[in-house]
Amino acid sequence: MKDSHHSDLIEFYKILLSDERKKWQNPQLILRQFGDLKGKRLLEVACGPGYFLSHAATLVGPQGFVLGIDSQPLAIEISRERLEAVGFSNYRLVIKDAMETPWHLGTFDFILIANALHDFGDANIVLRNVSESLEPDGKVMIVDWKKTHTKFGPPVEKRLSKKQAEAIMLQAGFSKTSSYERLPYHYLLVWKKNIR
Ligand SMILES: C[S@@+](CC[C@H](N)C(=O)[O-])C[C@H]1O[C@@H](n2cnc3c(N)ncnc32)[C@H](O)[C@@H]1O
Repeated sequence: MKDSHHSDLIEFYKILLSDERKKWQNPQLILRQFGDLKGKRLLEVACGPGYFLSHAATLVGPQGFVLGIDSQPLAIEISRERLEAVGFSNYRLVIKDAMETPWHLGTFDFILIANALHDFGDANIVLRNVSESLEPDGKVMIVDWKKTHTKFGPPVEKRLSKKQAEAIMLQAGFSKTSSYERLPYHYLLVWKKNIR
């Protein structure tokens, strides 16, 4: 028998995949902040039910590759259904705790962490894995909730302010290359790793 946790997750994923979300977190607009994705390798850490992944698979095209990881098996199952339904073969999905180290997932041109940095028990461990998995000229994008009250989204006390997220990224050895300021509820920051 499916438990209430399962049905709560299903409800949560429905919200994450809703058309309504595109109005305030347009996936194509967000992914394009990386630059040209064609032929690139993109990893989404904590991909959930695959809201961004199907768009990423389209943007990287058949010569590119996308990988989604999430610790929740149901999220990976739904991501797989979504990607299969649109007929992509340029992807892989892995059930994985992002804090497990090392990742052994290969290297990537782009790594996306959307609505999840505030969720990790220890963001530093995740970011060390991110750094090891990023090509020297690769980029990391952090999209997360502004620390202000909104009608929906995680409780404000769980959120990281933009300043807190920036401090975490700087501490983890990244430098900011750009930002996008026009999302109503989120900040979007793009980073490269410091090469020593
Ligand atoms: C709010 S959802 C965001 C999903 C997706 N990035 C999006 O924006 O639609 C947060 C996701 O982070 C995942 N998550 C939280 N902690 C994690 C961890 N340590 N390792 C992997 N996934 C994690 C959860 O299972 C959940 O799917």
